[in-house]
Amino acid sequence: MNRFSQGASLLILVILLAHSVDIEAQSCRPSGKIRGKKPPPGKCNKENDSECCVEGKLYNTYDCSPAVSSHTKAFLTLNSFQRGGDGGGPAECDGKFHNDSNPIVALSSGWFNKRHRCFHRITISANGHSVAARVVDECDSTLGCDDNHDYQPPCDNNIVDASKAVWEALRVPRRDWGFMEITWSEA
Ligand SMILES: *[C@@H]1O[C@H](CO)[C@@H](O)[C@H](O)[C@H]1NC(C)=O
Ligand SMILES: *[C@@H]1O[C@H](CO)[C@@H](O)[C@H](O)[C@H]1NC(C)=O
Repeated sequence: MNRFSQGASLLILVILLAHSVDIEAQSCRPSGKIRGKKPPPGKCNKENDSECCVEGKLYNTYDCSPAVSSHTKAFLTLNSFQRGGDGGGPAECDGKFHNDSNPIVALSSGWFNKRHRCFHRITISANGHSVAARVVDECDSTLGCDDNHDYQPPCDNNIVDASKAVWEALRVPRRDWGFMEITWSEA
């Protein structure tokens, strides 16, 4: 190969790489933005590292989530599905509160797919361990910063928001509960 064709091949490779990164980034783009409202006194339970909306801050909303595969990458967060917990209202799938001793999760809106994943079992893997968990709720990526969402920002589009039973089953030490990279698939 001469210098010119080497250069040309490299250029083509760089263009192809940039293109595939671009496609990845475009696969689920924000559907809108909402402006944060300050939580009224007594609202937004900050326990378990819940984030509260900041007045005037812009938050992305998403109607979509990344494509589901046999090892879908996601972030695991901690949620309480019990009455008075930081999950806000009752679960979206059945309008009920649930005992956090059960391995249950809320999924970002795109994955929740308008209740189509309600009560499905998903397998969550991380840390060399796996757990089967049931989908009972939505981690709303389309709305937030209102009373219905306890003045928390909209969820990212790649969240599995899990009860403590899930964290326990994955053998994550208590001090590390809150935010962790995982993969999941339909069980
Ligand atoms: C915080 O998490 C723990 C463990 O899941 C739970 O028992 C507690 O109710 C949670 N607190 C709130 C306010 O959700
Ligand atoms: C949740 O289930 C556990 C284990 O079955 C039980 O000990 C606990 O009292 C239950 N909590 C609530 C709030 O129902």
